[in-house]
Amino acid sequence: MNPDFIKYQAQTSPYPLGMEVSHAIGSYIYDTNNKKYLDFVAGVSACTLGHQNKRVNDAIKNQLDKYSHVMVYGEYSQSPAVEFCKLLAEHMPEPLKKTYLVNSGTEAIEGALKLARRTTGRSQLISCHNAYHGNTMGSMSVMGFEERKQIFRPLIPDVDFITFNNEADLEKITTKTAGIILETIQGGAGFIQPENNFLQKVRQRCTEVGAMMIVDEIQPGFGRTGKLFGFQNYDVVPDIVVMGKGMGGGMPVGAFTAAPERMDLLSHDPKLGHITTFGGHPVIAAASLATLQEITETNLMPEALEKEKLFRSLLVHPLIKDIRGKGLMLAAMTESAEITNKVIFKCQDKGLILFWLLFEACAIRITPPLNISESEIREGCAIILEAMDEVLSE
Ligand SMILES: Cc1ncc(COP(=O)(O)O)c(C=O)c1O
Repeated sequence: MNPDFIKYQAQTSPYPLGMEVSHAIGSYIYDTNNKKYLDFVAGVSACTLGHQNKRVNDAIKNQLDKYSHVMVYGEYSQSPAVEFCKLLAEHMPEPLKKTYLVNSGTEAIEGALKLARRTTGRSQLISCHNAYHGNTMGSMSVMGFEERKQIFRPLIPDVDFITFNNEADLEKITTKTAGIILETIQGGAGFIQPENNFLQKVRQRCTEVGAMMIVDEIQPGFGRTGKLFGFQNYDVVPDIVVMGKGMGGGMPVGAFTAAPERMDLLSHDPKLGHITTFGGHPVIAAASLATLQEITETNLMPEALEKEKLFRSLLVHPLIKDIRGKGLMLAAMTESAEITNKVIFKCQDKGLILFWLLFEACAIRITPPLNISESEIREGCAIILEAMDEVLSE
């Protein structure tokens, strides 16, 4: 591992993988020893179209040759951002037609929480146990995993928690609630899908009491579950949709979308209700537009469901107890963190990149680029099975 990496760049865990990246193309990453790794993680669901996708790269280069940052967002009309928001609106149900562009998932969550308070004039926020919504103070306040936030308290007040998929808990959403935020598939918790029309029941309760239903699509979003957004699988229309990660085809970005009259509340009383220097950055917006065009003009979304079937048919092994998730947001579950760790490290040695989930230690993350090929899926699954055979025989 490069000693300067440890010495000068701040680490986020005591055990960084530390691979020295040379270059990456398609579904593969190459290290500085020219070892090739098949990427089943895609920058943790961010590299929607793999690495160095031509359409995304061309959009970035073309935009760089025209202009880059010229003004803070909202003051000038800049076509990549405008075109992105317009195309997104075409793929959103009524009334979700206006989008605020920011720089990351967590910032989009902050904006959405503020919008819920601004819209309702209420303060209470509700989230779910084991939810992950980001790592800034507001998003961390709605994180449902005490161990990771205790040391940073006090966080924002008036936050309450319910259990995902627990219908009885919905009574906690009342006329005091500004908004409930929930992932449409709980990511860090272990790729948990809504059951028994849970999202529809949340929608109904929010409508009854006038609370905002905020869905965090940062991980399921942008085609990964077979629809552009996870909520579109469950026949609900939320009030605020939050996105990030895969939106920029590997570039740093976030956004939240709501009804125009709601979104406009951020521009008055007070004006500048949410501002950010780089939101709507033309180069990032150009990459996001190219990514959205590619996802919506091709068969990548329905193909994600076909690829899910292939993964499920190939990943049959005594060590795999379950495969959770939908489309290309999959988690292979083993019975212990120890087995999961061994499999992930062995696969890395064998040239396949896998990763963990934030709070569920038995899960093996499988979130490849949407345009991964069938033969690449077969190649990677064969490596997983080989690694599992070795773990089993140890
Ligand atoms: C569901 C969900 N919400 C929010 C975030 C935070 O996004 P970011 O890391 O871009 O701030 C993530 C990132 O993993 C996420 O998976």
